[in-house]
Amino acid sequence: MEKKILAIGCDHGGYELKEFIKDMLDAENVEYKDFGCDGEPVNYPDYADKVCRAIQSGECYRGILVCGTGIGMSMAANKHAGIRAACCSDEYSAKMTRQHNDANVLCLGGRVIGFGLAADMVHIFLNTEFEGGRHLTRVNMLNALDNNK
Ligand code: RB5
Repeated sequence: MEKKILAIGCDHGGYELKEFIKDMLDAENVEYKDFGCDGEPVNYPDYADKVCRAIQSGECYRGILVCGTGIGMSMAANKHAGIRAACCSDEYSAKMTRQHNDANVLCLGGRVIGFGLAADMVHIFLNTEFEGGRHLTRVNMLNALDNNK
């Protein structure tokens, strides 16, 4: 079976939540690669870039990015071809962005949401399948926008 490695990254605003998510993934035997940071002040686009490149290369199949709000990470991530990053603060959005948008990066705000909600959203993100069908047409249209300069 194909190895599925999750990419995970954060800036200083998302460090505590990223560490919590890592503990959770460890307890559940979910394989991941941590692209940093280690809590020091950094610039979030650098860490979004590391995670997104790992997905683009096929090293990792999906990613989780955490910053203070999740917004900067999602903006940076969505600059990468083939990346569909969703900044979510509720379970319904996390579910729908997998089912309808085939999101491959979940962005979370470490200063916005609690650990319990984050854990629920990570589980949904990892365990919800893309529905395909009419949504595939739209995702293909999204992917075509990668060519807009
Ligand atoms: C860092 O202070 C903060 O700006 C960053 O974590 C993030 O919230 C940006 O979107």
